[in-house]
Amino acid sequence: MSEDPVVTALRTALSAAPDPSLHLALGDRLTVLGRHSEALQAFQQVLAANPTDTEALTRAAQAAESAGDAAKAIGYRTLLTALGAADAQHAPTAVPLTPEGESPAGGPGLRLVGAEEPPPPAGIRFDDVGGLEAVKKRIEMSFLAPIRNPSLFKAYGKAIKGGMLLYGPPGCGKTHIARATAGEVGARFESIGLIDIIDMYLGESEKRLHEMFEQARRTGPTVLFLDELDAIGQKRSQLRHSAGRNVVNQLLVELDGLDSSAGVYVIAATNHPWDVDPALKRPGRFDRTVLVTPPDAAARAHILARHMEGRPHQGLDFAVLAAKTQGYSGADLVHLADTATERVIEEVLAGKAQRSVSMADFGAALKEVVSSTGPWIEMARNYALYANEGGAYDDLAAWLKKR
Ligand SMILES: Nc1ncnc2c1ncn2[C@@H]1O[C@H](COP(=O)(O)OP(=O)(O)OP(=O)(O)O)[C@@H](O)[C@H]1O
Ligand SMILES: [Mg+2]
Repeated sequence: MSEDPVVTALRTALSAAPDPSLHLALGDRLTVLGRHSEALQAFQQVLAANPTDTEALTRAAQAAESAGDAAKAIGYRTLLTALGAADAQHAPTAVPLTPEGESPAGGPGLRLVGAEEPPPPAGIRFDDVGGLEAVKKRIEMSFLAPIRNPSLFKAYGKAIKGGMLLYGPPGCGKTHIARATAGEVGARFESIGLIDIIDMYLGESEKRLHEMFEQARRTGPTVLFLDELDAIGQKRSQLRHSAGRNVVNQLLVELDGLDSSAGVYVIAATNHPWDVDPALKRPGRFDRTVLVTPPDAAARAHILARHMEGRPHQGLDFAVLAAKTQGYSGADLVHLADTATERVIEEVLAGKAQRSVSMADFGAALKEVVSSTGPWIEMARNYALYANEGGAYDDLAAWLKKR
C-alpha cells in the first residue's frame, strides 16, 4: 500500500525543519488514518523537546488510549491535571488534517494544525444537548466507551457494531446529538442526505453510498449520519423508483460489511420510523430504535440558558420560561430566544439605547413562537396505539402516557 500523500509531505517537511507544529500535524493526520501508535510517536517528539506542552500532552493521551496503552494515557492525563490544563479528561481533539475535499467542517481543504490560521471552534459536545440522557447513555455504551477504552472492550470481545436509529418530532435534536457524538471524541462527522444521494447521483447512487462508507472506514473514527432514513428505507415494495430500492440494498450491504474495527458508527434519523424498511431494523443494522423526545422542563431551561449565553440579558428566569414552553422542541426554543433578542436589536436599530434582553421580551416572543411538535405527536399516537407490533413503539407509548 502506498503511503498517504499528506503523511509523506509532512515527513519531508519535518526532515527539513523539525518544527513542533509539524509533528502535531503529522500526529493528527496519523490519528485520522487510525495509526495511533505512530501518532503517539509524533506527539512524543514534541514532548521530548517540551515535556509540558499541553497540546501535545492532550493528543498523546488520546493516542495512547486509542493505541491501547491505558497506563501511558493515564500518565499524560495526570501530568495535564498537574499542569492545571482545563478539563484534561475531555480536552477537545484538534481538527485533523484532512486531504483536499474531505474537510469535516466543510471549510477549505488542507489545514495544518498549529499553523498561523486559528483552528475552527471545537465541535459541539453532549453538554450542548439539553436532556436526552437515555440517548446519551446508549451512545456512550455503544460507541464512545469503546473508543475511549479500546483495550477493555477488546478484552471482552465487544466492538462497535450496528447503528442507532433516532426517531422523533422535528427539531428535537436528532441531528444535534449525532453531531455532538462526533464532538465528544473528536471523530469526523459525515452527514449523508439520502434523498440527495438518490436525486443527485441518479444511476450512481449505490456507488456514491459505497464511496462514503469506504472513506469513513479509511479515515478512522467517524460518525456517519444518515438523515431521512424513511425516504429510502420505505418498505422496498412501495418504492416507485428503483433507484431508491437499489440504495436500500446497497445500504444493507454496507451495514453488514462494516468491520467492527473501523470505528465507524452509523446514526440514522427519521420522523417516520413506521416507514422504515424492516430489513434495515434487523440485528446488526439499526437494531436500536431510540426515541428523541421534546425536551423536558430541565432540558428546556438548559437549552434556553445555553442559547442566551454571551448575549446581554438581565433578570431572565429560565425555570419560569421552561414552565411556559411545554411541548416546545429544541428548535422552537432557539427560535424563541432569537425572537426575544431580535426585539431588542430592532429597538436599538431604531435609535433607542442599548439594553439587555428581559423577561418582557420573552413574554412578547412567546406570543409569536408556539410549539411545533403537536402534529407529529398526534400522528405518533396512532402508531403507538394501533401499530405497535412487537412492542417497537413501547417507549413512545410510555412517553405519550406520561405526558
Ligand atoms: N435537545 C436539544 N438541546 C439543545 N439544542 C437543541 C436540542 N434539540 C434541538 N436543538 C436546537 O434545535 C436545532 C434543530 O435541531 P435538530 O436539527 O437536531 O433537530 P432534528 O431532530 O434533527 O429535526 P429534523 O427531524 O427536522 O431533522 C439544533 O441545531 C439546536 O440548535
Ligand atoms: Mg435533523
